[in-house]
Amino acid sequence: MRRALLPALVVLAVTCPGAAAGPPDAGTTAGAAAATAPEPARSRALLALLRQDCGACHGMRLTGGLGPALTPEALRTKPQSALVATILSGRVGTAMPPWRPFLTEAEARWLVVQLLAGDLDAAR
Ligand code: HEC
Repeated sequence: MRRALLPALVVLAVTCPGAAAGPPDAGTTAGAAAATAPEPARSRALLALLRQDCGACHGMRLTGGLGPALTPEALRTKPQSALVATILSGRVGTAMPPWRPFLTEAEARWLVVQLLAGDLDAAR
């Protein structure tokens, strides 16, 4: 299994322009706010993922469920870099899974910006 997975991940890393783009600081407020929007089709797919997959645990309106609320009010005081890290790596010992296999860091940053804006229909 591991042998088959590794080349696939390498291909992913090479073919995802977003993965290498952007300032290395990424964690600062400015870095997250500057997150470039993915292509429109990918943006729609990411927002659908947010509503459906994330919503399964965080509530259909992301106001909380098994996982905490992901509303602007709930997230405003938290460092964006920590939120991005949680999305990519999950939280060990909790139900929060890692999304790194499905999202680039740039995409995770963009999702956090969408969550903070509270406008999940922005890219429609
Ligand atoms: C299987 C359930 C589950 C799914 C699916 C899930 N989460 Fe979570 N998430 C959790 C739980 C539980 C926590 C709280 C972990 C803890 O106790 O620290 C959490 C925490 C978080 C946090 C940190 C919130 C904070 O206040 O610090 C963020 C951000 C987050 N999730 C985003 C997402 C996103 C984005 C997705 C979809 C890509 C997602 N989650 C999908 C269960 C889930």
